[in-house]
Amino acid sequence: MSDRPRLLPLLGTPRHGSRDAMTCLYRCGNACDHPVPNTSDNTYFGDLVNAEVSRRGVVRAGAVGAMVLGFGGALAGTGAAASAAPNSPVLPEATTFPAGGKGVGNGALTFKPIPPNTLDTFVVPNGYDHAVVIRWGDPVVPGAPAFNLGKQTAAAQAKQFGYNNDYVGVLPLDKGGKRALLVVNHEYTNEDLMFPGFTSQDALSVEQVKVAMAAHGMSVVEIERVAGTGQWRVVGSGRRPYNRRVDALSSTFELTGPAAGSSFVKTAADPKGRTVIGTLNNCAGGVTPWGTVLSGEENFNQYFVGGDAAPEADKPRLTRYGISTTARYPSGSRKWDRAADRFDLGKHPNEANRHGWIVEIDPYDPDSRPRKHTALGRFKHEGANVIVARSGHVVAYMGDDERFDYLYKFVSDKKFMKGDSWVARKHNLTLLESGTLYVAQLGQTSADEIDGSGKLPSDGAFDGKGRWIKLVSGNRSYVDGMTAAEVLTFTRFAGDKVGATKMDRPEDVEPSLHTGKVYVALTNNSNRGVGSNPKPDEANPRTANRHGQILELVEDRGDNTAETFAWSLPIVCGDPADPATYFAGYDKTKVSPISCPDNVAFDATGNLWISTDGNALGSNDGLFATATEGPERGHLKQFLTVPYGAETCGPFITGDNRSLFVAVQHPGEITGATVENPASTWPDGDYAKPGVVVTWRLDGGPVGS
Ligand code: FEO
Ligand code: CA
Ligand code: CA
Repeated sequence: MSDRPRLLPLLGTPRHGSRDAMTCLYRCGNACDHPVPNTSDNTYFGDLVNAEVSRRGVVRAGAVGAMVLGFGGALAGTGAAASAAPNSPVLPEATTFPAGGKGVGNGALTFKPIPPNTLDTFVVPNGYDHAVVIRWGDPVVPGAPAFNLGKQTAAAQAKQFGYNNDYVGVLPLDKGGKRALLVVNHEYTNEDLMFPGFTSQDALSVEQVKVAMAAHGMSVVEIERVAGTGQWRVVGSGRRPYNRRVDALSSTFELTGPAAGSSFVKTAADPKGRTVIGTLNNCAGGVTPWGTVLSGEENFNQYFVGGDAAPEADKPRLTRYGISTTARYPSGSRKWDRAADRFDLGKHPNEANRHGWIVEIDPYDPDSRPRKHTALGRFKHEGANVIVARSGHVVAYMGDDERFDYLYKFVSDKKFMKGDSWVARKHNLTLLESGTLYVAQLGQTSADEIDGSGKLPSDGAFDGKGRWIKLVSGNRSYVDGMTAAEVLTFTRFAGDKVGATKMDRPEDVEPSLHTGKVYVALTNNSNRGVGSNPKPDEANPRTANRHGQILELVEDRGDNTAETFAWSLPIVCGDPADPATYFAGYDKTKVSPISCPDNVAFDATGNLWISTDGNALGSNDGLFATATEGPERGHLKQFLTVPYGAETCGPFITGDNRSLFVAVQHPGEITGATVENPASTWPDGDYAKPGVVVTWRLDGGPVGS
């Protein structure tokens, strides 16, 4: 383990946790410096929710294992049928990983936790190893040129691994777990750390602007297991038919669902409102049961300019989505209008409405056009994760990552089709095109005791009942004064109107396929209870919340399509020595400090893994794990840390529990750092490069256990 010399922050000071000012600028367009976009008075109905749910006598969910039957192997063995597929150039043997354990989240996590640190290296527990799988600039599409730092071109970058990897999904290509597709989001670029000699966005050439656009988007990369280990590496030569890049520069996406073709998404370049060029700020995501990947378009607002010249009637909508309507170039603007005028809202005011969706990409069909599903609503989508409900309908859970914005779920009209046939696959590819969109309203059991201190209420829990409020179903709107297309395109307004609960920045929202319970990472909210901002409530119980919390949501009757649920906070993050923290009642002297939860994942035994972004306790970001059930619930332990200045993204654990992938995003992103004077030299010892890492147990055993 080395502790390389590194820069201290030069110009800025850490803000919003320990997040560096440079990250605030590039990742979110300084979102926290702008007014909170949600200024709705949005009457709070929390106590009414509890009263109403109690009156209905709703039964708290019991065992729900049954709902996932048929899930794990739903598409395993696709190979036989796949070989019958006409005209398909690529025929996977399997599209789900071999089934792992059958645990229900109560597995023992035996690794020795690693301590907090600020090392410029990737740290794993004793008994584990790790390796970089792929990094920014590595070739993806066959024919990609070798990376050339000083002579980057958009054409080269469009064939190379993009910048700032975020979501990681791994989908198998065979039944034996030897070949797979790595699917990765590239959320945003940091031109300070990409281009030697960078001085300002204005000084970039138009070609360099296009390089940045091509470094956004997603990558699909074929990988192979290193024999007998949990390590994976890129398939480096020969035919790689699945390898693919989509980007913000030139890739075409199809709009689906009720808002496709509406007046809100029509532009001069696309008068029918059906096809969009580019995807923006792809943050988290999820693998679907039918073998596709969902990707959330998050802080899309920051890419648009000219909001000051947009039609007056459009300005409230732009403002609610965090787009400036007072300046041509908001602070930190990338000024992409220099390369493509579709980013100028003065000329193309509807273009912003064509971003902020959930993207679905089929990595098994490299010729398929990725889709933006309007039925899942438009907001700053962190990601989406799907479970097949007991009824067979598929349910996608989603968060809108903004201070005081909302939690959502989508329930499909059609049912998931099991089986190995391409008929089933074709059917399942339509599941996210029509359904019902809900927003969450959370009630409280101890509202009178919530004083912003984080003190546990006398009933022993931050908890309550809640309900899913129907916003739209197919083409029918349930929101007064808004059409279905309007609800889906301006979903935040719909949430405002129906009294959704204002949350502390909902990041990943992911159902456990082992228990059906849903876990929400609420990362932080420095504005909670500050000034005229909304006060703490039982689900968001701390004033000026710096460390965030994990919310557990249990759908009534164990039915993921239910319209009522119970919720609680199993983890209130921070230093366990701080009385304003909670770890499901577990002995706090035995848990690791954690701050700013962002992404969640489950291993094959159902344990919960949590990655962080912006650790406000001074350590590098990392990855943590805890059981969700049984006596070890709340025994949170730190499994790894990422290098200096980086955020831990991904994570993804293969179904056989032998390999754990994380994305190291924005290493060395410290104000004042440059390519020539980097704050991190990970991974190659020269300058900082985002990259995907795989971790495995040296003895070949299951990761974590
Ligand atoms: Fe891109 Fe909400 O993290
Ligand atoms: Ca309570
Ligand atoms: Ca995130």
